[in-house]
Amino acid sequence: PFDWYREMRDGSPVRYDASRGSWDVFRHADVKRVISDDEAFSVNPRTASDFEGLSGEGEGLILDTMLFQDPPRHDDLRAVVDDAFSPRTVAEMEPRLRDLMSELLDDALAANDGEMDLVEEISYPFPVIVIAELLGVPAEDRAQFKEWSDSLVAAASDEEIAERQQQSQQEMAMYFLDQLQQRREEPRDDLLTTIATAELDDGSKLPQEEALGMCMLLLIAGNITTTNLITNAVRCFGNQGVLSELAGNENAVGPAIEEALRYRAPVQAMTRIARSDVTLGDATIEEGDRVVAWLGSANRDERAFDNADEFVVDRAPTGHLGFGHGTHYCLGAPLARLEARVALSELLSLDGLALADADLSPTRSSFIYGVESLPIRYDGR
Ligand code: HEM
Repeated sequence: PFDWYREMRDGSPVRYDASRGSWDVFRHADVKRVISDDEAFSVNPRTASDFEGLSGEGEGLILDTMLFQDPPRHDDLRAVVDDAFSPRTVAEMEPRLRDLMSELLDDALAANDGEMDLVEEISYPFPVIVIAELLGVPAEDRAQFKEWSDSLVAAASDEEIAERQQQSQQEMAMYFLDQLQQRREEPRDDLLTTIATAELDDGSKLPQEEALGMCMLLLIAGNITTTNLITNAVRCFGNQGVLSELAGNENAVGPAIEEALRYRAPVQAMTRIARSDVTLGDATIEEGDRVVAWLGSANRDERAFDNADEFVVDRAPTGHLGFGHGTHYCLGAPLARLEARVALSELLSLDGLALADADLSPTRSSFIYGVESLPIRYDGR
């Protein structure tokens, strides 16, 4: 998409796309304004003038979560889990994440010989295992849990699959409701308990449905995104020929991941709704219009980054919008960064790590940027 972004940034930085019935915004300054000016733009799809109700039950759950709620409701909901995802709490998880990653890599090495699919073996399972553990999903339910997560992200290619997916999402919902009920009766030291027993700042209890929605949100928002960050980072490092250079330099890995987030952002766009008529550049966006803010384009804007179209491994970029900006800045950013750093430093311990030749196919999910699989080669550990 990057050539298209450049063309748009230079020629039509704020434009209306009649075929989709929404605006597109491409420059860094405008994108940043659209995603963080809560007075002018809403995250709630229900405020769109062309909002047509919900296509499935599951969507209702998600629309009531923090991701799609404006302040003040947003802030009450986010406060429930803010501490659990703070940089400090997350930093304490590093040793455990290292163990989990090391196990995963051992299994992958045992099952493959000199070449493996990074996505299947590492980038995909790792975030699922981590969030299951963080929520407090009992070990004996993990395999089932992974199956449900798979179905959340799988593209529905035909009706039968779509039906099975719906069924499996319903099973998952029933499971979470049951787990949440158990935590209310018998609290444990886990995130499910935090969510199940949450009292909001206004003194009310978090309704069951919204507790369930929050669990689903954490899965949906945290899994494919982190999978693609890990995969995109390895792809950037491989293409740039810096894998061996990074292998000996643990301190360089964090900044290099940050540059991968800028350069190949897993989330390319976020949508907002204008709350009243808003002027942006030369355009007037009308109340109720949908606006797509292209994070992936903002991150390549020459107006914000020198040589923006170049991957510079030690750039240590600040101000990129890969995790968004403002009120809805990614709750999981510290966790995603840690997961990526742990995964990458374990992977870099492989001798002769390199990308294998392959035709890459893009992730089949709108606004998510990455590849379905990424074959890598290695000589041993
Ligand atoms: C919000 C990206 C990982 C949970 C966001 C937003 C972005 C983003 C761009 C802003 C949405 C908006 O402005 O409308 C990413 C990327 C990730 C990642 C690129 C991985 C590399 C995670 C993880 C979790 C998570 C691991 C949790 C387990 C959330 C939640 C929100 C959010 C709950 C909504 C925050 C709010 O509305 O206040 N993420 N995310 N994300 N993310 Fe992430």
